[in-house]
Amino acid sequence: MCGIVGYVGEQQALDVVVDGLRRLEYRGYDSAGVAVLDATGPRLQIERRAGKLANLEAALAQGRLAGTLGIGHTRWATHGAPTDRNAHPHTDCSGAVAVVHNGTIENFADLREGLEARGHELTSDTDTEAVAHLIEERYAAGEEGDLAAAVRGVCASLEGSYVLVVAHRDHPDLVVGARRNLPLVVGIGDGENFLASDVTAFIAHTREARALDQDQVVELRREGVVVTDLDGVEVGGECFHVDWDTAAAEKAGFDYFMLKEIQEQPDAVRDTIGGRFGLDGRLRLDELSISDEDVRGFEKVFIVAAGSSYHSGLVGKYAIERWCRLPVEVEMASEFRYRDPVLDRHTLVVAISQSGETADTLEAVRHARQQRAWVLTISNTVGSSMARESDAAFYTRGGPEIAVASTKAVMTQLAAVYLAGLYLAQVRGTRDPDEVRSHFRDLETVPALITEVLSRMDATRKLARDLSGEERVLFLGRHVGYPMALEGALKLKELAYVSAEGMPAGEIKHGPIALIDKGTPVVVLATRHALQAKLVTNIQEIRARGARTIVIATDGDETVIPYADHLIRLPDTKSLLSPMLTLVPLQVFAAEFAMARGLDVDQPRNLAKSVTVE
Ligand code: F6R
Repeated sequence: MCGIVGYVGEQQALDVVVDGLRRLEYRGYDSAGVAVLDATGPRLQIERRAGKLANLEAALAQGRLAGTLGIGHTRWATHGAPTDRNAHPHTDCSGAVAVVHNGTIENFADLREGLEARGHELTSDTDTEAVAHLIEERYAAGEEGDLAAAVRGVCASLEGSYVLVVAHRDHPDLVVGARRNLPLVVGIGDGENFLASDVTAFIAHTREARALDQDQVVELRREGVVVTDLDGVEVGGECFHVDWDTAAAEKAGFDYFMLKEIQEQPDAVRDTIGGRFGLDGRLRLDELSISDEDVRGFEKVFIVAAGSSYHSGLVGKYAIERWCRLPVEVEMASEFRYRDPVLDRHTLVVAISQSGETADTLEAVRHARQQRAWVLTISNTVGSSMARESDAAFYTRGGPEIAVASTKAVMTQLAAVYLAGLYLAQVRGTRDPDEVRSHFRDLETVPALITEVLSRMDATRKLARDLSGEERVLFLGRHVGYPMALEGALKLKELAYVSAEGMPAGEIKHGPIALIDKGTPVVVLATRHALQAKLVTNIQEIRARGARTIVIATDGDETVIPYADHLIRLPDTKSLLSPMLTLVPLQVFAAEFAMARGLDVDQPRNLAKSVTVE
C-alpha cells in the first residue's frame, strides 16, 4: 500500500525513481508522482498523475526532469480522491519542500486548521500536504536551515503512522526519511544511496540494506547515511544482505507474476523447510529469545493473521492441537485486540504475515506484547516490523511475492505452521524426536507432490474457462479442507470479482444449502481423510438439489465418482498435509477463471499487496 522511493547519487534520479516505483507497483496504488531536484535552479521539478504509472510516464515524456536527487511515490488513496491534485509529492507554500508519505496522520484536521490560521494555503485534500507546510515552518523558524532537524521536530508533532521522505531545493545532496509503524529501508550503494518501502525497489542497484526502526530519521547523502532518533542522537543498526536478485522479482516469461509464483511453489517449500535441523538433531527457528522453559510453560496459543494468512493459521490450529495438545484459537487480527483477549506470560501468540507489515496484525502483535504474552512471527520478510517486534521469528523463504493475491506465500506459511507445531511438540516433549523426524520426512515429500499436481492442471484450467461466465461459486471442505475452501473462495472473489463462499461441508444443511439451484457450481475438497464418508454424503446432498459438483479427490478414491460432475485428482499424502496439495488447483482455477474474464490477475481492483492501514 503506497510505494516510496528516494535516491541521491550520480545517476539520473528520474530513471532510478520511476524504475523503483514500477517494482513497487504490486503494493497497489491509484496515482503516482515524482520530484527531481534541478540543482542549477535550484528548484524542485514535480510531476504527478492519477492512475497508473503509464499516465505519469506519458506526462514525463513531454520534458524529462534532469537531476541526480529525486523522490517518488505511488499512492493508495486514504485522505482525498485519487486525483492529480491529491497525488504526491506535496509541497509547501513556496515550493521549496517536497514530501511523499505513506500512512495516515490522525491529527491531520487539527494540524491543517492551525496551518490555515497561520496563513498557509493548502491546495489538496491530503494529510500529507500539512506535513510539507509544517516542515516549511520549522525549517524557517527554529531549525535555521537544518532539514533533518525540521523533519524530526515535525515527526514529534504527528499522530498516526507514517513514512515520510523529504527533499528541499536548497539541499542538492540530501534526502531525509522518517518512519513510524510502517516500513522504510535504506539501500546502501557506492557513491549513491536509496530509500524505499521495500528492497524490491532498489535491488537492481544494491543488495546491501538497512531497515529503519521505529521513530528513526535517516539523512541520505551520496557518500553516506546517518540515522538518528527523534532527539537527533545518532543510532547504530545492522545492515543485511538481500539474498535474491532482480530476476527473482521478474516475470520470467509468464504473462502474470501470479502464474510464475504458483509454479515456484515446490522450490519455495523446499527452501522453507531446508536446513531446519541443527547439529544436535533438533528443529530450530530463525530467531528465538524464548527459553525452552518458557515454551514448556505455554498454556494456550492464539494465531492472529489476516486474509489468506488467516487461512494458513486455521490449518496451524489442527497441527498444533494434534501434536502439542495445546488449545489454539485462531483469530482475524483486525478483531483480536479490540475484544481484550485474555493473554499472559503463559500465552503464545503466533502472528502470520507474508509482508510482516499488515497494520492489523502488527497492532495485534504489539497488543500481545503489552499484555506480556510471547510472540512468534511467521513472515516472508526478513527484518519486517513484525519480525523485529516479536520474541521469535520463523521466515518462510518464498522469495518476493509480487502478485497482489497471495499464492506461494500461503503455501510456505502452511509448511511453516507445521514446522512451528513440530517445534513446540519437540520442546514440550509431547512427541518424541523420532516422531518429529517422521512428520518432517512426510513434509519433505510435499514439494515433489506439488510438482506432480502442477503437471496435471490442464483440465482444471479448461474447467475454469468453461465456468468463467458464472457469478456465484461455492467451496466446501471439512477438517483441514475447510480453511482451504475459504482460501479457494477468497482467491476467486479477489481475482474474478464473483461472489464466492467457502463453508464447512457439514454446515451447509443448516442454511446455505438454500443457495443451491440447478447448475450452481460447488467445488468440494474431498481428499482422503477421516471424515471422507461424511463428506461423500454432503456431496450427495448438494447434487440431489441440482449442484454442478467439482470434486477434488485423492488418486484411486472410487467413492466420489458417482457424485462428481468434474473430478480433479491429486496424489495421496498424509491428511494433515493435504492443504498443500488442494491449494494448487484452487489457485489455478481462480487465476484461469479471472483471465478468461479478461482481468489482470496481478493487480485486482481495489486491493493492495501490503495493507498498512487498520
Ligand atoms: C489474499 C491476500 C491477502 C493477504 C492479507 C494479509 O490473496 O493476499 O488476504 O493474505 O492482506 O497479508 P500479510 O500476509 O502480508 O499480512
